[in-house]
Amino acid sequence: MSLRKPGGAVLVTGAAGYIGSHTVLALLREGHAVIALDDYSNAQRDVPTRVARLCAGDVQWVEADVRDQATVEAVLASQGVEAVIHFAARKSVEESCRLPLAYYDSNLIGTLRLLAAMEVSGVRRLVFSSSATVYDASQPSPVTETGRLSCASPYGRSKLMAEQIISDVVNSGRLDCVALRYFNPVGADASGKLGEDAATPPSNLMPRICLAAAGKSDPLQIFGNDYDTPDGTGVRDYVHVADVADAHVAALRYLAAGHGSAMLNIGTGCGTSVLQLLRTFTEVTGVDVPYTIEARRQGDVASLFADVSEARRMLDWSARRGLAEMCADAWRWARPDGDRALG
Ligand code: NAD
Ligand code: WQD
Repeated sequence: MSLRKPGGAVLVTGAAGYIGSHTVLALLREGHAVIALDDYSNAQRDVPTRVARLCAGDVQWVEADVRDQATVEAVLASQGVEAVIHFAARKSVEESCRLPLAYYDSNLIGTLRLLAAMEVSGVRRLVFSSSATVYDASQPSPVTETGRLSCASPYGRSKLMAEQIISDVVNSGRLDCVALRYFNPVGADASGKLGEDAATPPSNLMPRICLAAAGKSDPLQIFGNDYDTPDGTGVRDYVHVADVADAHVAALRYLAAGHGSAMLNIGTGCGTSVLQLLRTFTEVTGVDVPYTIEARRQGDVASLFADVSEARRMLDWSARRGLAEMCADAWRWARPDGDRALG
């Protein structure tokens, strides 16, 4: 139970999704009033109940498409919203290559309509979900925010274009925005009652590890063990979703203090290989994960991890949870005899 923060509410788009739902929880725990908007195109209907069980805060759930500008304007006007966190988007690299127009429609038109609604309503603070996928992954890691940009998929381009559109609006003097480029969010709320539960089958490593560990899939396919990395498997920057959520709370604080706009990497700054992650998972959970070594996945790179010094300096934020906690929390949510039942 937390005390209501003075000031207006925060509109969260894509609030029932993986990162959105953990961020709604973090905001409620900090005493923010939240309007949580989602169209449930990639989320489960029980997310509002799960969030309510974990925190009895001031949250109103709205089922809507963020591209419906009139509805978003009505929400912004009626609720005294002071800031927006924009998660709503499609996020599969592979799907975006098959359905590029759907991706530009959701991710670009969604952002454009939201920005227009914010302008009409006089709301000028935005936290935007961007992605490490905007970086040219052939450059050496750690990658700073000034690293080379290059997108290998329509999904990545939709994020980069959205960043550029937002930057134009910031330069016009009508908006302050903190854009966060997440690396590899994983894990779940420590309660085991909230986690990743997309409508579509997962393609990311951690949920696939959990499926293989639970015996709900074939053995995990490790895509390549001949990369130029210490053990030959791909290296990434895994960051606990609760730390990612906390970065949004810190970004709102930064905007409220009138510091202006920023573009920041959100990761731990540590590179972890697929085999290292698997080893930690087994050490922490006691569960062996069957796997096979397969050919490299098209479009994958050897190594990509973040330089996170700017987020530390500007937001006074850094990831607090380590790899063991990421694995333990992911498994508490995903394991067949886990704690997720609402009972
Ligand atoms: P998610 O799919 O779990 O969440 C997105 C949510 O937005 C879903 O609940 C979906 O139903 C909703 N949504 C989609 N289109 C909508 C629309 N037009 N109107 C209203 N709601 C809509 O994805 P996530 O992993 O929580 O990602 C959140 C954001 O973070 C996305 O913008 C994604 O591109 C970005 N991101 C994610 C990752 C990652 O690895 N998960 C990494 C980098 C960036
Ligand atoms: C991680 C590592 C794989 C699955 C993607 C998007 C990126 C961002 C985060 C949204 C790689 C290996 C994976 C499997 C495996 N999302 N792997 N077997 O590729 O870093 O990034 O998610 O913005 O845009 O591209 O994450 O979790 O898919 O892969 O061996 O079944 O695990 O080869 O080395 P990635 P990932």
